[in-house]
Amino acid sequence: MMDVFRFLAVPSGAMPAWWEELFDDRYLRFYDGLLPLREATADAAFVDRALALRPRSRILDLGCGFGRHAVPLARRGHRVTGVELSERMLEHARSLATSAKVEVDWQRRDMRDLDGLGPFDACICLYTVLGYFDDDEHARIVRAVHERLVPRGRFLLDLTNPLALLPRWPSTTRREIPAGVAVERSVYDPLTARLTTSRAIQGPDGRGEELPVTVVRLYAPHETKRLLEAAGFEVEQLYGGLRDKPFRWNRSVQQVWVAGRLEEGVGGRGGKDQQIPGTGHSPGVGASSSASASASGPTAQIPGPIMSSSASASAPTGQTPPT
Ligand SMILES: C[S@@+](CC[C@H](N)C(=O)[O-])C[C@H]1O[C@@H](n2cnc3c(N)ncnc32)[C@H](O)[C@@H]1O
Repeated sequence: MMDVFRFLAVPSGAMPAWWEELFDDRYLRFYDGLLPLREATADAAFVDRALALRPRSRILDLGCGFGRHAVPLARRGHRVTGVELSERMLEHARSLATSAKVEVDWQRRDMRDLDGLGPFDACICLYTVLGYFDDDEHARIVRAVHERLVPRGRFLLDLTNPLALLPRWPSTTRREIPAGVAVERSVYDPLTARLTTSRAIQGPDGRGEELPVTVVRLYAPHETKRLLEAAGFEVEQLYGGLRDKPFRWNRSVQQVWVAGRLEEGVGGRGGKDQQIPGTGHSPGVGASSSASASASGPTAQIPGPIMSSSASASAPTGQTPPT
């Protein structure tokens, strides 16, 4: 039995990791207005459809943040478990659930410890939550998700697609926010496939507030596919976003995978000859073949980690990948 405190406790003398420090109110201020609640509600409708969820499905939301997807999914009648490390995020999540009058099983724990949870009909992991650790740890997490799904259960994994963003790095972006200006600097290291991002809020008085620097492993699509398949998943769909967008390898800033848990001893679901649109590649994937949604060239939209309850009209622009 795994020690449940293993990941929550910082050994004395050790510096906390960035992901233990970043996700608090400063972080929410930084992303204020970037992803309105109604975007997340539409994401939830997409998730429902893309995973072909049955009524009252049991869903694990891995790294659920403040519940912006967990709560709308619960409102759709599903039984949702939200795993989240940050107590502050969970406080916001609880109050969002209370306002929406829904029950969610909030679990404050590290995503590397899913002991005792499940079984689930589906797992979602949205906005580049996978990428904070080393490759072996990521593989363990995906295997742990697989173990907790029922046979034929589905996993929806939403990651940043570095192939579409490489030409933009290194980058500096500035965005006005209620607290001042959000400044973000990103540098990609091709030898480690990690993106290092520093963020600061410049207040109106000229004073700056720095956020912890993030270092995120970005998986190229072929690596994500391998990660899923190595854990026992079969890829069913690859989208370029959370709205049925077809995937374009050099344009889509998101890679959204739907993968199914194979039944024991059962081969693939077929479709090995199908194409992954935008990749010129195949196997086992039946992504939408519509060419319309992302055909107009790269957008500045990068999946953003957090939404605010304010009613800003559009998705995030010009920001680095979420952390
Ligand atoms: C980029 S945010 C995404 C949140 C949510 N999925 C969304 O779309 O709003 C990543 C979330 O993962 C949480 N997180 C970071 N490290 C974690 C860990 N080791 N275990 C569980 N959650 C973690 C953070 O606290 C944060 O809320």
